[in-house]
Amino acid sequence: GIKGIIGPSILNADLSKLTDESRRLLDAGADYLHLDVMDGHFVPNLTIGHPVIKCLRKNIPKVYFDAHMMVAKPEQWIEEMAGAGVNQYTFHIESTTKESMPEIIRKIKEVDMKVGLGIKPKTDISVVEEYINDIDVVLIMTVEPGFGGQKFMGDMMEKVRWLRKTYPQLLHIEVDGGVNMKTSDDCAQAGANMIVSGSALIDSKQPDKDIEQMRNLIDE
Ligand code: DX5
Ligand code: ZN
Repeated sequence: GIKGIIGPSILNADLSKLTDESRRLLDAGADYLHLDVMDGHFVPNLTIGHPVIKCLRKNIPKVYFDAHMMVAKPEQWIEEMAGAGVNQYTFHIESTTKESMPEIIRKIKEVDMKVGLGIKPKTDISVVEEYINDIDVVLIMTVEPGFGGQKFMGDMMEKVRWLRKTYPQLLHIEVDGGVNMKTSDDCAQAGANMIVSGSALIDSKQPDKDIEQMRNLIDE
């Protein structure tokens, strides 16, 4: 089947040591980095933006960067994020209008980034259908976006299952929020192949074993 990859979210790490914390998890076997960008408008929290990601990119040249854009104006940061070395621009369908969607997707592709489309827990999965052929990844949120360390919402697995059943090949399905050793199994069973895990991996005493086990669950 489709390859399973693990992307730590650094949100709950010591952000003053972003490079070290990122390297630590990459050395432990992480496949990519999930970078949570918040602007205090789309979600009630602030994190990092393209200036910090650009610095991180200088220290970490090759790894796949997924920017999770929890911002009110996703159209505003496309060029900046591409310039900062981001590989995947994951924005939220709730953060824009239906009219703006085609243009945003086109712009992301124009600067050679992959397109991720995120949906919040209360958003119906059917809204992604009309974009499915134009995007690379669907991100299913398993918590309300805004904060790390929240409880995994198991009922979101229904969305993952439906999406995987309807689009068995090619489509990447990413899950994010409250994913730990236990809940990553549910995500893998449901058909997710890109697993974001924040506090569980940051706090783990054996991130290498945990990452390997998470990946094995998907590849089974
Ligand atoms: C939530 C973020 C997630 C989250 C992951 O708004 O998008 O990436 O921080 O962290 P954990 O795994 O701790 O929920
Ligand atoms: Zn995220």
